[in-house]
Amino acid sequence: MVTLGIETSCDETAAAIIFDGAVLSSRVSSSVLLHAKYGGVVPEIASRYHVEYISRVCKLALKDAGKKLADVDLVAVTETPGLPGSLLVGIAFAKAVGFAGDIPVIGVNHVDAHILSCFLDRRGGSQPIFPFLGVVISGGHTSIYHCESLEDFHLIGRTKDDAAGEAFDKVAKMLDLGYPGGPIIEKRAAEFKGKDEIHFPRALLNVSRDNIDFSFSGIKTAVMYYWRSSSKTEKEKTKVCFSFQEAIVDVVEKKISRAARLTGVKRLAVGGGVINNALFRGRLKVLSEKNKIELYLPKKEYCGDNAAMVASLGEKYFKYGKKKKHFLNEEV
Ligand code: KG4
Ligand code: ZN
Repeated sequence: MVTLGIETSCDETAAAIIFDGAVLSSRVSSSVLLHAKYGGVVPEIASRYHVEYISRVCKLALKDAGKKLADVDLVAVTETPGLPGSLLVGIAFAKAVGFAGDIPVIGVNHVDAHILSCFLDRRGGSQPIFPFLGVVISGGHTSIYHCESLEDFHLIGRTKDDAAGEAFDKVAKMLDLGYPGGPIIEKRAAEFKGKDEIHFPRALLNVSRDNIDFSFSGIKTAVMYYWRSSSKTEKEKTKVCFSFQEAIVDVVEKKISRAARLTGVKRLAVGGGVINNALFRGRLKVLSEKNKIELYLPKKEYCGDNAAMVASLGEKYFKYGKKKKHFLNEEV
């Protein structure tokens, strides 16, 4: 079965071809550089970029996979959540492809796709074994799910305000470091050699031993106050990056560990752009070894927004889904 995946929820225009679970191609064209000077994604710029590149990206994905549109059996597209104007470009394009080729079009949730990106690879990937804890740490979400079956992802913890990636982006903007903030802060933090790290607040760690929600807006404010009254040297900036990253990783690690204790679940899958971060990956590996938890992380190319994760989840719903087999073409 050949599935064309389409992803346009934020600033990446992406298309991929999956053949019975194996990733044949995955193309991502990003408008990130166009947003850099604003320090965050400008929705209208993102939408216009999708309009300009969507057909080209789909054609390249088909070409890389050695397939033609006539070979496609299913179109899967990110339906929600995301920037409305961006989502609409992908959905309308997917529906047009479905209409032209008389192909079913299935809608996929972007966050669920991030979680299942842990199981993707070019040979067909491994099948998720339920139950597991599914965690998304991205620019838009920081959430923990108890995943009991393909279609039963129960939200058990989430951020009350900013997402972790959003905090990285906002702190980088504050420090005038550029966008997206995550990779820049990670690189900068690695340069810190001192021992005088700043202790930024770890929110919602002490309210109760069972709290698995997040809050990242306070740390952003703490960084702002610290930075305002600091010497503002490059050395100081490096120290802030290091200390900020430590605080975020510390909180996420502790909350995941709590979620594992509370649910008793011994498998963990963590997806989303922030899991590109080597400190996060390393700390989660230690956590899982210590607690005898099986850890699944996405390959680097599937951490950020991509369409392989969308195609793969659409294919799973099509083959095995009952509740979430949600077709977008009214004639199916
Ligand atoms: O999953 P993603 O590509 O898009 C969303 O669905 O939001 O995640 C993007 C987020 C951005 O906030 C970016 O700064 C963050 O992931 N990010 C990182 C790293 N690479 C990307 N955060 C920390 N460390 C990184 N290496
Ligand atoms: Zn995403």
